[in-house]
Amino acid sequence: MCGIVGYIGKKNSKEVILKGLSRLEYRGYDSAGIAVHSNGINQLKTSGKVADLDAKCIKEKLPKSSIGIGHTRWATHGIPNDTNAHPHQDITRNFTLVHNGIIENYLTLKKYLAQNGIECKSDTDTEVLVQLISYIYNKDKISFEESVRYALMKVVGAYGIVVLCGDEPDKIIAARHGSPLVFGIGDSEFIIASDTSPIIEFTRKIVYLDDAELVVFTRDDYYVKSILENHIILKTVNEIQFSLNQIEKNGYDHFMLKEINEQSNSIAESMRGRIIIDEGRIKLGGLQEAIQDILNAKRIIITACGTSWHASLIGSFVIEELVRIPVNVEYASEFRYRETIVGPDTVLFAISQSGETADTLAAIKKAKSLGALTIGVVNVVGSSIARETDHGVYIHAGPEIGVASTKAFTSQVTVLNLIAILLAQAKDRNIKEVANLVNDLKLLPEKVELILKQSKKIKSIADNYIDAENFLYLGRGYQFPVALEGALKLKEISYIHAEGYPAAEMKHGPIALIDENMPVVFIVNEKGYEKIISNIQEVRARGGKVIIVTSIDQEELHEYSSHVIHVPSIHQCILPILTTIPLQLLAYYLAKAKGCDVDQPRNLAKSVTVE
Ligand code: AGP
Repeated sequence: MCGIVGYIGKKNSKEVILKGLSRLEYRGYDSAGIAVHSNGINQLKTSGKVADLDAKCIKEKLPKSSIGIGHTRWATHGIPNDTNAHPHQDITRNFTLVHNGIIENYLTLKKYLAQNGIECKSDTDTEVLVQLISYIYNKDKISFEESVRYALMKVVGAYGIVVLCGDEPDKIIAARHGSPLVFGIGDSEFIIASDTSPIIEFTRKIVYLDDAELVVFTRDDYYVKSILENHIILKTVNEIQFSLNQIEKNGYDHFMLKEINEQSNSIAESMRGRIIIDEGRIKLGGLQEAIQDILNAKRIIITACGTSWHASLIGSFVIEELVRIPVNVEYASEFRYRETIVGPDTVLFAISQSGETADTLAAIKKAKSLGALTIGVVNVVGSSIARETDHGVYIHAGPEIGVASTKAFTSQVTVLNLIAILLAQAKDRNIKEVANLVNDLKLLPEKVELILKQSKKIKSIADNYIDAENFLYLGRGYQFPVALEGALKLKEISYIHAEGYPAAEMKHGPIALIDENMPVVFIVNEKGYEKIISNIQEVRARGGKVIIVTSIDQEELHEYSSHVIHVPSIHQCILPILTTIPLQLLAYYLAKAKGCDVDQPRNLAKSVTVE
């Protein structure tokens, strides 16, 4: 939920850190701060964004330095103000620390420190940690590294931290447990961050820290240790898979609009090399060994959060329809705390764009502890979920920077279809039902392009509803999850309240909301067509404004609604991919017209790594 950067090398650390923080702002942007070594530790921090911190560094002349740390925050403990902003220092001002995560036993530790004369100034759990490191360092007269290690052994909860010590100005120490940290190995320089986006312009050589690991950097070397056993760990050096311009806006006003318009390509990337063209068969290397276990499973669970949960719902329909195995879809935050029935005969799929969502990660660990086989469907290569699950499939949608998930969703639905076909073909080699679906999957990218060409029309529709305070999204069958996703997109970036419902549910309550101020978006598909037309009539009879998204070419639809957005027809299992895109654009143009911060909506963060 927060973004962390640390640098040690030959460059001016302020430049590296501020640019890195701006690349991480999608993770949180309530406040920001920086600390550098220059005749002691110099620290500046402010509520607001990285741009505000940059201005403060200029105004207050932050000294040049080749070693420093920085942080952009999504508040968990303590309101977003200067005091609670990171970095945090100990009372001796010898230690400075940035943190991503939640220290669950911070009140116990805070009380312990108070009993030993150490009073914390801020409301944050982070300050407790830096005070504890300092207290141990001064009490036990041990090294910087050992003080960090001993302090972390007392911590319960999730952390990704980077620490400076005034007594050892040529060293940076970082550690992780539950919150992501990755570091880049440059030419006599190292940069550590919450993900690879601040690292990529300096080096493509990266190392992922794992839980309960600590790394010590000096100017020309580093080593990784186990926090608990204190022995050296030899880590694999990986190569970053994407280019710098993939994380730039490339001329679009917002990352979200860029990512919406990338979907023809990102969906193609999700299928690349995975459909054996002349045989019409699916190949997913990461699942090959698990196929029989999945087919023999007594229970399949798909777990996720937010938009990924909506994709999971569609995936569950496809798997049940093609593979004829029952599938339950669970919110990860509910699944992890409920007394569910999970055992060695259960297979759990975890769907996550970031691969770092705390609730989803916890759900996986719970399922594993009960003997289940776990499979990750993830976008970020090397992420925690990708490494925690037994098997997995990357969706290859490319970096998704906008907080509102768009191309990851359509790639998740694409890959879940590939998985369902793979399983169906493994169960019955000669299954015919999937042939049309495989052919239509190949047509997806060009059909997406046809929808994107309607962007101007969708913007003009959005312009009619800038003053709307509520929206209702209604769909049936495969289009019900689309109604949920369309509503989430709208509310999370435009702050207009919106709800998604099964269309037939409208008469069980929501119809009471219908009046001339309530725009209702219907996603109309062939299955249940007559029924949904009745629902549309019910809304119109009460003055509601109707917007229709459909692949059906019926003149009457234009009589029943103020606007019809037409999408190309395609197999019903993947039609949700096409019907969601106009809703992404509708939400985008409404939020933009309202002057909202589309890429960094208030109160939100791209990756919810806290519970
Ligand atoms: C989607 O637009 C939201 N940003 C949010 O619901 C997101 O889908 C959810 O937090 C899950 O994230 P993940 O896919 O990275 O696990």
